[in-house]
Order: sequence, then C-alpha cells, then structure tokens
Amino acid sequence: MRMVDIIEKKRDGGELSKEEIHFFVKGYTDGLIPDYQASALCMAIYFQDMTDQERADLTMAMVESGDQIDLSAIAGIKVDKHSTGGVGDTTTLPLAAMVAAVGVPVAKMSGRGLGHTGGTIDKLEAIEGFHVELSNDNFAKQVNEIGMAVIGQSGNLTPADKMLYALRDVTGTVSSIPLIASSIMSKKIAAGADAIVLDVKTGDGAFMKTVEDSKLLAQAMVKIGNNVGRKTMAIISDMSQPLGFAIGNALEVKEAIDTLKGNGPEDLNELCYTLGSQMVVLGGKAKTIDEARKMLEEVVANGAALEVLKKFITAQDGDASVVEDTTRLPQAQFEIEVPAKESGYISKIEADDIGTAAMLLGAGRATKESEIDLAVGLVLRKKIGDPVTQGESLMTIYANQQNVDDVLAKIYQHVHISSNKVSAPNLIEAVITE
Ligand code: URA
Ligand code: CA
Repeated sequence: MRMVDIIEKKRDGGELSKEEIHFFVKGYTDGLIPDYQASALCMAIYFQDMTDQERADLTMAMVESGDQIDLSAIAGIKVDKHSTGGVGDTTTLPLAAMVAAVGVPVAKMSGRGLGHTGGTIDKLEAIEGFHVELSNDNFAKQVNEIGMAVIGQSGNLTPADKMLYALRDVTGTVSSIPLIASSIMSKKIAAGADAIVLDVKTGDGAFMKTVEDSKLLAQAMVKIGNNVGRKTMAIISDMSQPLGFAIGNALEVKEAIDTLKGNGPEDLNELCYTLGSQMVVLGGKAKTIDEARKMLEEVVANGAALEVLKKFITAQDGDASVVEDTTRLPQAQFEIEVPAKESGYISKIEADDIGTAAMLLGAGRATKESEIDLAVGLVLRKKIGDPVTQGESLMTIYANQQNVDDVLAKIYQHVHISSNKVSAPNLIEAVITE
C-alpha cells in the first residue's frame, strides 16, 4: 500500500477501506508516514468528508494505536460523560455523585487541561490532601465500593490522536466534523466506557458557535459510538454565557457542593438532571427519562448524593469536611465587586472573554507550564435576562492581587446591558439519539 494512493483516492472523493485507514494511522503513529502526507490527507478529508463507515474505522484505528483501559473489574454498565468544553463548566462533580448515588458506576479519567480554569483534576486538588493517582486495582475497588472514582490521565491512550490533533492545529484542519468526532470518540472509547453521554456546547463560549454545527458534530459522534458498539447519545447545551455562577477552581468546587445540597444555580442544576437522566437510563437503572430524573431528584433531596461525594473525597485522601464547611477551601485575599454602570437588562455575557478574565486572575493555564491559583476566579451575580440597576454588582472578583484593572476592563467590555427586556437563552437546545 502506498500513502500517496490513499491521499489521491480521498482527494478525488473516494471511500477509504478499513485497511487503508489503519495503514495510515499506524504508519503515521510509528513515524513511517511523514507529516506532509498526513496533512495532505487531513486536508483531503476536510474537503471531501468521510462516510459513516470511514468515521468508525478511523476512530477504532486511533483507539488501537495505544493502551485501552479495561474496566471489566467494575460491576455494571460504565457510562461516561464528555463535554466539548465551556466556561465555568462545573458539571462533572455533582453529576458523578448524583448518578453514582442511584447505582450507575462512575469510573472517570479526567484531564488538567489548558484554558480558562483547570480541568476536573485541578478542581479536585483544591480539596486539601486529595490525590488523583490510584492503582488500577484500587480504582476498580473504590468504584465497586462507593460508586465513584476520578483519576488523572495515565497510560498511553490514543497516541495517534495526539499526533494528528497537533498536526491539524497547524494545518488548518481542526474544524472538520469527521476529524473532530473521531478524535473525541477515540479518547472516550479507549478510556473504557460501555456507554457515552455527550454534552455538546453551542454558542460564543463553545467550540461550535451555532446550533446547526453543534448538531452535526453531535450526530457524527452518536453515529460513531453506536456503530462501534458503544451506546451513545448527546445533548446540545447553551454556552452563550458561562454555566452556573462560578468560574474558578475552588469556587467551582463550592458550586458543585451547593448543587448537591439542592442550592445550585438553576442552569447547572438543570444540566446535571438532563445529562444524569440519560446516564441513568443508559446505565440500565431506569426505564424512562422521567423515572431517572425522579431518582436523581430524590438522591439530592435526601442527601444520598452528597454522602457519595464525601465518601469519594475521603477515599482519595481529601478533607471531606469541606462539604459541610466550604470556607475550608482555598480562599482568595481580595473580594472586589463590579458595579453596573447603568440600569437595564443583562443582554450578553460573552463567555469566552469572561473566561479569559478569570484566567488573567490566575484561574487557568495559558501554557502547559503555568501554575494555577486555585482560590481565584469570578462569581456572576447576574445572568442573561436579569434586570440590573446602576451600582448593583454584576459579579464578584476573587483575587490574590490588589490591582485588577485589566480584569475589570474586560468584564465591562464583555457584559452588555440593554434597556429592552431580554429573555434568558434556552439551556437545552436538542437531544440527539441517532
Ligand atoms: N477536541 C478534541 O478532542 N479533538 C478535536 O479534534 C477537537 C476538539
Ligand atoms: Ca460554574
């Protein structure tokens, strides 16, 4: 087989065979196929697209390029959740505790990540003593015993995806639906999930800016999952403004705890119940979405979900007393309010830029080497559609620096106030099951 023939076939709109796709992925991962040929193929895929069969084959070739996690020591159907990423997305923690409390095992591998705030792993490290390294045996044992464990990335998962993603980043081929969908799905499948629930974000703060594009991506991922034998479904959720109120690591842990106590922000709460209901049905613990939702509401109301969170923190050596007393989480030195300059209605909170404001405070990493300040961040006091009077606080800045002029400027620039009444955006835009 010759790589040039594969490139020409795709360039001319042909359908690549499973053997051709594996030849490319293996050859590229092994360093036998050079970057220039791999980038030519990515560009051909960008313009010519891939069939459902090609997408499934590409995904599995990337899965097989590295280690695959074996979760068979854990009883039950392992359902994983993946979010395409947003600003202030605190969902994983409360969601995991809720579904674990109704009996769906959560065996999660999470990342640190670049961006506005840390990943789930960074957030968990805001809890004193918490550690994210567990042996495989202890990981399985913990999930079997208390229903939930979260560990950092380990092993060599999907090296082909890592190499291809880096190549696509510098060759103008990131924004291709078949390439994005296979990239995301390969990582979830290699991590061992039996079933997958996807939260595809849409809007200003998301990877996909329009509902149409988000739907195309969601449909592509759902098809791949179902075609390779992992039940998959997706929801499209709004990211035109940050999710919940808190953006920052310790601040989001507090928000997660509040949510499990039934005092969370409305949107975060609703998102957890929507995603959680799908997970509970896929996990075989309820027959219908309505039934699943009632079960989740019950474990929040009776404290069982909060109890799972405490046991989980304790099992991973963290200080579970933060659940009762969230002031034991890292606290910033300064709290600075951001008074509205005019009265009206909040019409826009540009998620990306507000995320950047949190990053300026030190909540996220600009480069892989950056240190995160776990205590700092922003807490929104207003969301889109809320009325505001001049002088009322738009948000609170939690900082470890006295001068926050650049952060203030960014906030004023990207929170918009209109004199006309504005309605809140739709949180759940669609549910995609095929
Ligand atoms: N996220 C991924 O993991 N892969 C892509 O290709 C794009 C976004
Ligand atoms: Ca949040």
